[in-house]
Amino acid sequence: MNPIKVGLLGIGTVGSGTFNVLKRNQEEIRRRAGRGIEIAVVADLNTERARELTNGEVEIVSDANEVVSRPDIDIVIELIGGYGIARELVLKAIENGKHVVTANKALLAVHGNEIFEAARKKGVIVAFEAAVAGGIPIIKALREGLTANRIQWIAGIINGTTNFILSEMRDKGLDFDVVLKEAQQLGYAEADPTFDIEGVDAAHKVTLMSAIAFGMPVQFDKAHVEGITKLSAIDIKYAEELGYRIKLLGITRRRDDGVELRVHPTLVPASRLIANVEGAMNAVLVQGDAVGATLYYGKGAGAEPTASAVIADLVDVTRLHTADPNHRVPHLAFQPDELSSVPVLPIEEINSSYYLRMRVADETGVLAEITRILAEGGISIDAMLQKESREGEPQTDIIILTHITREKHVNAAIAKIEALPTVLSAVTRLRMEELN
Ligand code: NDP
Ligand code: HSE
Repeated sequence: MNPIKVGLLGIGTVGSGTFNVLKRNQEEIRRRAGRGIEIAVVADLNTERARELTNGEVEIVSDANEVVSRPDIDIVIELIGGYGIARELVLKAIENGKHVVTANKALLAVHGNEIFEAARKKGVIVAFEAAVAGGIPIIKALREGLTANRIQWIAGIINGTTNFILSEMRDKGLDFDVVLKEAQQLGYAEADPTFDIEGVDAAHKVTLMSAIAFGMPVQFDKAHVEGITKLSAIDIKYAEELGYRIKLLGITRRRDDGVELRVHPTLVPASRLIANVEGAMNAVLVQGDAVGATLYYGKGAGAEPTASAVIADLVDVTRLHTADPNHRVPHLAFQPDELSSVPVLPIEEINSSYYLRMRVADETGVLAEITRILAEGGISIDAMLQKESREGEPQTDIIILTHITREKHVNAAIAKIEALPTVLSAVTRLRMEELN
């Protein structure tokens, strides 16, 4: 059988990884797919670099529009990124009856509903394993492996750049900016690294997982997003003293009244496996009602780990493109007419435990006032740490860990605590998840 023909849009980090792995393992991949997979044309703005990367073996064009319109191309791989030109090209490819493979979580988190609907109408596949957690086959696991389960929650370290930054800062005491530069050089960071450090990239990914897990449309605009830029070294240290690690987690949880969808720095007990995921590694913990907790771990970024997921999608499409579209696995795991309009809950309505740090005057009765406010708000204290004040400085840090409570109740208590004359700083509030 003739090889299936692929057009590659963008040969940067992931594009070149895809080209190299496909070439290196072509025979093994052919035996799995049932026919060869051939990159017939590459589109990239930098045609000279593209020619070098492909050793002059492939046709190179500068205009990606040419590729999505060519009748000889069966599958288009979009590895340009962003939601400008990438959206236009993906929609055009679908319109022209091409299957699409993409690693572009930003595009799908923001425009996924439109893209999946266009693909459904045309009977083509949009595959996106590489869009979440790089090389970890988490989309396959959620969409197929766990299909018997009512999924209850997902919590994941799903941004390699920020996990790398947090690990290097903690272990080597390196500065934020230095580690971020290293992550960029290693090809982990997004073209705009604020997407990584402000939690946006993780929010794109958890939005996609949430839609697949709970059978709802993608709702990135409803996600709560906080990154690591406001995290201070002292909280990482105090968390350690209390037996916790701070990780940037993407969390989504099903409740009777809606779905929580959030990204923020989170204290996790140091004894949990996920708390020990370091560097650019990713890990996703999924709780299903039948299977219990399952954990998926691996490289979440980089050229070849991500290529691994891109090529897995290429093989899937190669095997399935002749199947009746109604018999394929739906893009969001649930049949399109079975998606539910379950609401995403505002952040004030989430349930979590909290870490509260405040600087107080080292005077009699301060702690009693603070605990009284928490008790009046119905907030139960789990643990507390009071640092010794330094000589000649009658001030100290108090750290309180709470049991699970509604976020709006904690916010109300914090406002009252901050109004106390003996509380000398704003209260630092971090969320904490036991993940058990
Ligand atoms: P790169 O920036 O390394 O690669 C993008 C490539 O696309 C560049 O070669 C760029 O050329 C080219 N390009 C830009 N505009 C056009 C255009 N109009 N037509 C043709 N080519 C164009 O990005 P990555 O490979 O890192 O990322 C690609 C996608 O994969 C993104 O969606 C990203 O979020 C996702 N992803 C990335 C991972 C990673 O580890 N890097 C992991 C998982 C997903 P030029 O350089 O000249 O602008
Ligand atoms: N910038 C992303 C990360 C790439 O650091 O995880 C993988 O999606």
